[in-house]
Amino acid sequence: MKIAVLKEEAGGERRVAATPETIKKFSALGAVMAVEAGAGLTASISDSEYEAAGATVGSRSDVLKGAEAVLGVQGPDPANLKGLKPGTLVIAALNPLGDRARVDLYAKAGIEALAMELMPRITRAQSMDILSSQSNLSGYKAVLDAAAEYGRAFPMMMTAAGTIAAARVFVMGVGVAGLQAIATARRLGAIVSATDVRAATKEQIESLGAKAVFVENVAGIEGEGAGGYATEMSEEYKKAQAELVSGHIAKQDIVITTALIPGRPAPRLISDAQVASMRPGSVIVDLAVEQGGNVEGAVAGEVAERHGVRIVGHRNVPSRLAADTSALYARNLYNFLSAFWDAEAKRPLLPDDDEIVQGIRLTKDGKIVNPRLLGDQ
Ligand code: NAI
Repeated sequence: MKIAVLKEEAGGERRVAATPETIKKFSALGAVMAVEAGAGLTASISDSEYEAAGATVGSRSDVLKGAEAVLGVQGPDPANLKGLKPGTLVIAALNPLGDRARVDLYAKAGIEALAMELMPRITRAQSMDILSSQSNLSGYKAVLDAAAEYGRAFPMMMTAAGTIAAARVFVMGVGVAGLQAIATARRLGAIVSATDVRAATKEQIESLGAKAVFVENVAGIEGEGAGGYATEMSEEYKKAQAELVSGHIAKQDIVITTALIPGRPAPRLISDAQVASMRPGSVIVDLAVEQGGNVEGAVAGEVAERHGVRIVGHRNVPSRLAADTSALYARNLYNFLSAFWDAEAKRPLLPDDDEIVQGIRLTKDGKIVNPRLLGDQ
């Protein structure tokens, strides 16, 4: 089976879907690997490194010729995949819930599109979970982005000229990104606190040496829904949370927000008045800015300034650490395909009745087949 790795088309995307390590691993399974020239440059991988790992490097049309699988990060525009054989696999983060038109085009082209971000959150699929692998590094980078905007130091420092106080960092939303943000801020010497709607995170926050700030004694407090994700909270809870958080935010130097609810806009956690309550020079990083934002005044792609507070809204944070996020993303793809690899056929066989396949497969045989797109779930 020939597997093509394309240079990303989306503006600002620096990641790549394969690394020399995964090229070697796929080749060892019997796949023939072809990489589009320059695909890895923005992730610090040269064409010659891909060649040394066993891939051929060429133009997009050479790479796609005869390919039976195409790997991408945000993936190729269906219009740029003309000439692919029906049944060719396209595997990437295809944003099917946000860009339905693209899914229709894949179906029309007879392509079997697989959306990696729909990977079910089950134990067997943990090593294939791109949301986790990318969020982890986003949480880390959010703290570094905050530190870069912050005109003060993170750790307490005792100098001959006097003492500098440690920064106070508050993390809102303690999923994969939030946990890494807590750990990173702690490593930098900050005094860290965190909150979430899922009660299970309280222990995780404390085990990382941070203070848990939680709403207590309110109905509907258990905010955990299907698959370990958050649910929309009651009005009573939201009011209690806003009150609790208001007093706390006013004393913070840095706030990192990561809160998401699957299939819904990001919950609004910080109002303009709460931003104004922070002292000038404080920094807020809104990792949910592309899903509507947790913070009033956050602007996607910008560092906004409100009441002397910087609100950082970088887009595509994983792409800001492209070498490492690509390495993890590429392994997620390899772990997925190799788990379904048929040694004799030297290709993956994707059974219709497998939970992972059902979760991520969007199109097959010219039709949309994903239950979430068909409205069955
Ligand atoms: P996410 O990116 O969907 O959300 C981030 C965090 O925001 C979550 O912890 C959520 O509870 C929190 N949140 C939502 N609304 C909030 C609000 N109003 N106020 C404060 N916080 C709010 O979540 P992520 O990082 O993708 O993971 C969520 C959970 O999924 C994990 O902690 C874990 O339990 C589970 N998971 C399971 C995996 C597996 O079994 N393969 C892999 C990864 C995660």
